[in-house]
Amino acid sequence: MVRIAPSILAADFARLGAEIDSIREGKADWLHFDVMDGLFVPNLSIGLPVLESVRRYTDMFLDVHLMIREPGRYVERFCEAGADLVCIHAEADAEEGIRAALREIRRLGKKAGLALKPGTAWDAALPFIEDVDLILVMTVEPGFGGQKFMSQVLPKLGFLRETLDGFGLECLLEVDGGINPLTASLSVAAGAQVLVAGSDVFRAADRAAQIARLRGGNN
Ligand code: DX5
Ligand code: ZN
Repeated sequence: MVRIAPSILAADFARLGAEIDSIREGKADWLHFDVMDGLFVPNLSIGLPVLESVRRYTDMFLDVHLMIREPGRYVERFCEAGADLVCIHAEADAEEGIRAALREIRRLGKKAGLALKPGTAWDAALPFIEDVDLILVMTVEPGFGGQKFMSQVLPKLGFLRETLDGFGLECLLEVDGGINPLTASLSVAAGAQVLVAGSDVFRAADRAAQIARLRGGNN
């Protein structure tokens, strides 16, 4: 089964409730929530107060992607604000800081995710694979929606899948950036199980139809 996670970064924030309704009614599986700090990535986005409001509004699974430096400073607050899964970047701190943050997320009863930028090798995830429920393979440079999918990242999914299966670990693989029906099918063929899509879903007039296109035959 493939899960579709529309990124509300591409939504109209003045009508956020209606935007969430449209993807929920369109049978999206998760809601992807992008947090940027202007340091780890050269952009700012939304944060804790918006997450709290979204949590009060919907019971959808909230997949929170933290593009922030030293994320251990904030994981507890994002868990308390209503995240179901908190994903942090392997590049955002030293190994010990990342490990401690991942363990804290799980200790707080949430799913822990580790994200890898396009240029980060697959084996950067190895020191953490027992501490994560999901690995997010970025298929664009993090920081902005609407960029072009980097197909050279696809082999990373295969290496991760083999390694996880070899260890018998049930860890999901997620892709994020430039996902449309074509790149979705390439990603699924390479081993992705969760597809984040921002502009492709929110620019579509019929979100349900677009979500179905992204899912392809992979129910
Ligand atoms: C980029 C974000 C993505 C972004 C995807 O830094 O992590 O989640 O919203 O947007 P699209 O699907 O437009 O590439
Ligand atoms: Zn994201």
